[in-house]
Amino acid sequence: MRAQEYQSLKLNEALADAGQQPHELCSAIIGKSEPMRHLFEMIGKVAASSATVLIQGESGTGKELAARAIHEISSRNGKNFVPVNCAAIPDELLESELFGHVKGSFTGAYANRAGRFEMADKGTLFLDEIGDMKANLQVKLLRVLQNREFEPVGSTKSQKVDVRIIAATNRNLEELVTTKDFREDLYYRLSVIPITIPPLRERREDIPLLIHSFLSLFNDDRKHNVKGFSRDALEVLCSYDWPGNVRELENLVERMVILKNSGFICPEDLPEKYLGGRIQVKVPALPAGNSLPEGGICLNSAVDQFENNLILQALTRTKGNKKEAATLLNLKRTTLIEKLKKKNLEYSED
Ligand SMILES: Nc1ncnc2c1ncn2[C@@H]1O[C@H](COP(=O)(O)OP(=O)(O)OP(=O)(O)O)[C@@H](O)[C@H]1O
Ligand SMILES: [Mg+2]
Repeated sequence: MRAQEYQSLKLNEALADAGQQPHELCSAIIGKSEPMRHLFEMIGKVAASSATVLIQGESGTGKELAARAIHEISSRNGKNFVPVNCAAIPDELLESELFGHVKGSFTGAYANRAGRFEMADKGTLFLDEIGDMKANLQVKLLRVLQNREFEPVGSTKSQKVDVRIIAATNRNLEELVTTKDFREDLYYRLSVIPITIPPLRERREDIPLLIHSFLSLFNDDRKHNVKGFSRDALEVLCSYDWPGNVRELENLVERMVILKNSGFICPEDLPEKYLGGRIQVKVPALPAGNSLPEGGICLNSAVDQFENNLILQALTRTKGNKKEAATLLNLKRTTLIEKLKKKNLEYSED
């Protein structure tokens, strides 16, 4: 869908759109691009079984969100979803955190304590940042995956457990296997069903949808009334690369809602880094009509757009000759060049 179509998009339309998820049980996950449809389909399929799932993807792509969706759709949803961040817990504590310990097994172990495996019994254990797990624990985890039993720290008695494991990482596990930083046998045990969530820049059509969904969320949260993003602002955001993926986009929308109480968000409201790329406009088209849209308009941005259009039309007519284009616009050549630079505009023939 072209960014233009979102120019006067009202929030309720966006909400209605966001509500049309291919899988109604995955309603927390916004997206309608091909890769996201595929993800919904995978989530629906794997939820029916108890197979181990490995979710890979860059930071902020929604790995935890997907893991929670799998649990919620599965028959285990009445039981616990227990997340463990393997990178956030110090190595020496992770074993007891996962498997529990018995009283007196180490200094400070004053009582028996259940681990996360036990807490997740009949439910789902989410092993986040699995790529950071140290070798000695990888062996122990492999054993649980094989035998569905483990021993708490300091105990010789095995405990049976019925847990569905979903692991996630933003590191390349296959590469860690080749460098011997991750056990190959464990990798195969974990990746019975591998799911990869693509970065946001590979599914740009989801960007406007996510923006509008976050906008309504944060407007509600803060009792603000930001109407939307201007067409230019949306264009800027749709061409940005989003290294922080959906999390970065969510944070940006929250920041915009906090800083701006109402009206439209224009490119000049956006932080500098989002405006970095050169804007290349190929087909100059005059803004549709001169009427004020019902929801209001961002004047600066509209004037800017109008100016850009005329400049690009002049350049198109003169096949990129700046001197002749300047004459058509009654400007000095140097003024036109300055404007092009300032506006980050580039003329291209195709
Ligand atoms: N498709 C989506 N629809 C709506 N919200 C999303 C989507 N994807 C991610 N989010 C939101 O973005 C944020 C990051 O998602 P999440 O924590 O699941 O990412 P992650 O892949 O686990 O990131 P990390 O690798 O940094 O742990 C969360 O607030 C989540 O709700
Ligand atoms: Mg995560």
